[in-house]
Amino acid sequence: MHGKIMKPKSKSPSFSETIMTEVVFPNDTNPLGFLRGGNMMHWMDIASAVCAQTHANMDSVTVAVDKLIFKNPVTLGSIVTITAKITRSFKSSMEIYVEVWAKKIPGKGSYLTNTAYYTFVALDKNAHPAEVPIVTPKTAEEKRQYVAALKRRKERVVA
Ligand SMILES: CC(C)(COP(=O)(O)OP(=O)(O)OC[C@H]1O[C@@H](n2cnc3c(N)ncnc32)[C@H](O)[C@@H]1OP(=O)(O)O)[C@@H](O)C(=O)NCCC(=O)NCCS
Repeated sequence: MHGKIMKPKSKSPSFSETIMTEVVFPNDTNPLGFLRGGNMMHWMDIASAVCAQTHANMDSVTVAVDKLIFKNPVTLGSIVTITAKITRSFKSSMEIYVEVWAKKIPGKGSYLTNTAYYTFVALDKNAHPAEVPIVTPKTAEEKRQYVAALKRRKERVVA
């Protein structure tokens, strides 16, 4: 049977939620034995790109990173878990909230190390911005993030 593949018009944040786990090896650290900031940003960018591209079902590029905060150092041998979740899409752009947790082995559990908002733009085959599905938040936290994303976008795009 022939037919056009219909693109979904909306997707929930859980559809594209991405969880990535890494281990901090000696090559990832600075002379103090802490995970280098650039490595952390690289991992956060990969997790958020997977999230954005899964939502859009298109290639997507990073266009902005906001409120990137390093709250606590991460030491050699730690296990790092990066969670990337879409908060809201606009026309071709998508805001992804990224949270990073680390744990030492042996240790007492996980602690929050980083948060950031990444913005991606979906591109068509000609590398032009292309429309993406809207986000339908389900949980109370997803709804809070969805509403707040509009304010963040205004600050980001004007700046
Ligand atoms: C992303 C890119 C194609 C947008 O091009 P552009 O000429 O600004 O396109 P438009 O003006 O049509 O804007 C497209 C979208 O980007 C958004 N955008 C552009 N600049 C932005 C910024 N600084 N912050 C947030 N969003 C931005 C616009 O708001 C728009 O979103 P919308 O469609 O949801 O309303 C272009 O800036 C680019 O190629 N940047 C380099 C990306 C890159 O190489 N990243 C690193 C590798 S992944």
